[in-house]
Amino acid sequence: MIIFNPTRLALLFSFVVFTLSFNVNAEPDLTHNSDSAFKLKQTCPASFELMENGTCELRNMYQFYNSVQGRGLGGTQTSLPKHRDGFTPAQIDLGRYLFFDPALSKDNSISCASCHQPDKGFSDDLDRSIGITGEKVGRSAPTLWNVAFLDKFFWDARADTLEEQAVGPLFDAKEMGNSPEHLLKTLNAIPQYLAMFNVAFPNSDEITITNITKSLAAFQSTLISLNSRYDRYAHGYHEALNENEIKGLNIFRSFVARCAECHQPPLFTNNQVAVIGTPEAEGLPFDIGAEKTFNNKKNRGGFKVPTLRNIAKTAPYMHSGAMKDLREATEFYNKGRGHAIPEGEDLLIHWHIWEPDLQDKELDLIVEFLQTLTDESLTPQLPKRLPSGLPVIDADYAMQQAKHNIQQKQQKQQSIHTESGDEDE
Ligand code: HEC
Ligand code: HEC
Repeated sequence: MIIFNPTRLALLFSFVVFTLSFNVNAEPDLTHNSDSAFKLKQTCPASFELMENGTCELRNMYQFYNSVQGRGLGGTQTSLPKHRDGFTPAQIDLGRYLFFDPALSKDNSISCASCHQPDKGFSDDLDRSIGITGEKVGRSAPTLWNVAFLDKFFWDARADTLEEQAVGPLFDAKEMGNSPEHLLKTLNAIPQYLAMFNVAFPNSDEITITNITKSLAAFQSTLISLNSRYDRYAHGYHEALNENEIKGLNIFRSFVARCAECHQPPLFTNNQVAVIGTPEAEGLPFDIGAEKTFNNKKNRGGFKVPTLRNIAKTAPYMHSGAMKDLREATEFYNKGRGHAIPEGEDLLIHWHIWEPDLQDKELDLIVEFLQTLTDESLTPQLPKRLPSGLPVIDADYAMQQAKHNIQQKQQKQQSIHTESGDEDE
C-alpha cells in the first residue's frame, strides 16, 4: 500500500510542478489541455442589467437625456447614439476568452489583445501594429473603448458590424494569418471550447465562425467608458473639472476651434467619415482611406472621426500613428487648412477644418481637457488561463512576441539575401 507521508507528497508536488513547467516550453498540444472545466459567468458585467430573457442591457446616465438635436454645439447633456447590447453573460464571457487567446492566430502567436491591450487603452503604443509576420500593418490600432456605439468600423469605415470587422484581422495574412478552415479545426479540437460554445450557443452543436465573431462582438460591446471626470461634470458635478479643464472644454466646443462638430459629445465622435488631410509617416505612400470603401473621389483621404474617449492612453495618433502626442495632434488643426496635403493630391477638405488661429496657451488648454476623458473603471478581468492552454496575452507577452516575430523576419530576409548571392552590397 502507498502511504502519502508529507515528504512523499512534497516530492510528488515538485514532480507535478516540474512536469507542468517543462510542458510550457514544449510544442503545445491544444487538444489535450487537461485543465479543469471553465465556467462561463452567469452575471452581466458592471453597468449592464440582466433581463428576463437572459440577456444583458446597458444602463448609463446619458439614457436620461433625450436628444442630440437642439442642445447647441458640444452640449453636455445629450443622448448617445444607438448601441449594441442584448448578449447573454455566457456569450460575453466566452468572447473574453477568445479575445485573449492566441489560438485564434495561424501559429498560436498573437491574439486580438496583442494589438488591443487593455492597459494601453485597447491599443498598442505603436505607430502601426505588428502582426504574425513581424511586419508592420498598414495603419495604427484604434481603441476598442465604446465600440458598442459605432456603426462603421476600421479607419476607412469598410465594415458595418463588429462581426464583419472581426473576420478582418483573423484572416488577414499580415495580422493573425488564419483561415476559416484552420481556425474551426483548431477550436473544434479543444474540448474546453466545445463545452463553452455549447453553453453560450445552445442551439448549435459545433463551433462556427458566426458564433466566434458574435462572442467577440458581445465582449467588445461591454468595453464601456462613460464615467470620466468629464462625465461627472456633464452630469452636473461642476467640481469634477478644474478651471483650466473647463476652459479647455469651452475652447474645444467653441465656434472657433470647432472640434466638437466632429468629435461630438458624449461619444466624442459623430460616427462620420471626414477628410482632414493628416500626413502619412515619413516615406509611406498616401493612404486614400475611405475613397476605396465608397468608391468615391470625394472621400479620398477620408477617415472615420475617432472617439476621443481614453485618448490620453492611445498615443501615437491618427490612422498613420504619425503624431506622437496630444499636443501635436491638436496643433495639426492650427497649422492651416490642407497644410499637410502631399503635392499633386487634390483633397476635398471638410468645411469645419479651417484656420482657427488658436494661441499656444489655448492649444495647451485643449490638451488639458482631453486628459479628463479617461475612464478605465470597467476594464475587464484578464482570464487567468485559457481553454487552449496557451499563455494569456498581456502587455509583456505581446511585446516579447512582437520582438520575436521581427527577429524571425530579419533572419528569413538574411537567408534569402545569402541565397540570392548578396548582389547589392
Ligand atoms: C496585428 C494587430 C491586430 C490584431 C491581432 C487585431 N487587431 Fe483589431 N485593429 C488593428 C488595426 C491596425 C486596426 C485598424 C485597421 C484599419 O482601420 O485598416 C484594427 C481595427 C479594429 C477594430 C475597429 C475599431 C474602429 O473604431 O473602427 C476593431 C473592432 C478591432 N480591430 C477588433 C479586433 C478583434 C476582435 C481582433 C481579434 C479577432 C483584432 N482586432 C485583432 C490591429 C489588430
Ligand atoms: C471635420 C471633422 C473634424 C474636426 C473639426 C476635428 N477633428 Fe479631430 N479628427 C478627425 C478625423 C477624421 C480624425 C482622424 C484623421 C486621420 O486619422 O487621418 C481625427 C483625429 C483626431 C485625433 C487623434 C485620434 C486618434 O485616436 O488617433 C485627435 C486627438 C483629434 N482629432 C483632436 C481634435 C481636436 C482637438 C480638434 C479641434 C481643434 C479636432 N480634432 C477637430 C475629424 C475632425
